[in-house]
Amino acid sequence: MRAWAMRNLGITGDFDVLPTIGSKELVAWLPTFLEAKSVIYPEIAYPTYLVGAAIAGAEHRAVGISAATWPKSELAWVNSPSNPTGRVHTRDEMRAAIDYARRENAVVASDECYISFSAGEAVPTSIFHESDGDNRNLLAVHSLSKRSNLAGYRAAFIVGDPALISRIREIRKHAGLMVPLPVQQAMTVALQDEVHVEQQAALYRARREVLRPALLSAGFRIDESQAGLYIWCTRNESDWDSVRWFAERGVLVTPGNFYGAAGSQHIRIAMTATDTHIASVAARISAGI
Ligand SMILES: Cc1ncc(COP(=O)(O)O)c(C=O)c1O
Repeated sequence: MRAWAMRNLGITGDFDVLPTIGSKELVAWLPTFLEAKSVIYPEIAYPTYLVGAAIAGAEHRAVGISAATWPKSELAWVNSPSNPTGRVHTRDEMRAAIDYARRENAVVASDECYISFSAGEAVPTSIFHESDGDNRNLLAVHSLSKRSNLAGYRAAFIVGDPALISRIREIRKHAGLMVPLPVQQAMTVALQDEVHVEQQAALYRARREVLRPALLSAGFRIDESQAGLYIWCTRNESDWDSVRWFAERGVLVTPGNFYGAAGSQHIRIAMTATDTHIASVAARISAGI
């Protein structure tokens, strides 16, 4: 994990790593481990950031992308590439999040579990690519569920500030949240290979290109969707109307309001079905039947 983080995230300076039982449990429990009293997260976001704050009984607030506008908090979540929008932070946006961590003495946790799946010109970078070796108050969350298709193994890890990780490790140990050794060994093997990850990324890129023209021809506009494994699109109608339109064609998509009220005119399409299914869905969307 250490070698992978140096190779792939560009991390320098003092840092530590810690395996977790998938990244969802870490996302859900991090505010509790940190005893955070206030948590902020993106206004269109993976719902577990909010769930974790609620478990900890912390105040929580959804915020915009620009860290310059964030209110004071003890824990701030960043998610690039984003689930559900596929938006990729610019390097300046990442630097602004780091500045926030230093200015407010807040922990910034960067959920980077889709970092391997770039789809265009916006290449996702880790928060540690921008931290210049000063990793205090910074954590990055990585998961093998996406990059190596190992969701069933519950294999993930965090990287970052050694003092924070030591504290989190201590609590986790006493709560029994240890990753079984065979899973850790499988992670070590999977992290040594990037060929299968590039193959997976190529699959998502190809599926995106199959779906894109079909969606445009049916009147949808694709927003963000620069990376990751989702397409975020809208027809300027209620998300549930779009969900119904897809359901009538035998396709299950997710209403954007699951990720926050700001998503209520969008839907999220996951490109996790097989190539054959994706081709068939694209044909049905284009035909409008
Ligand atoms: C942004 C984000 N973070 C974390 C997770 C959790 O993934 P896992 O628990 O499989 O590592 C997901 C899963 O969809 C996600 O979309």
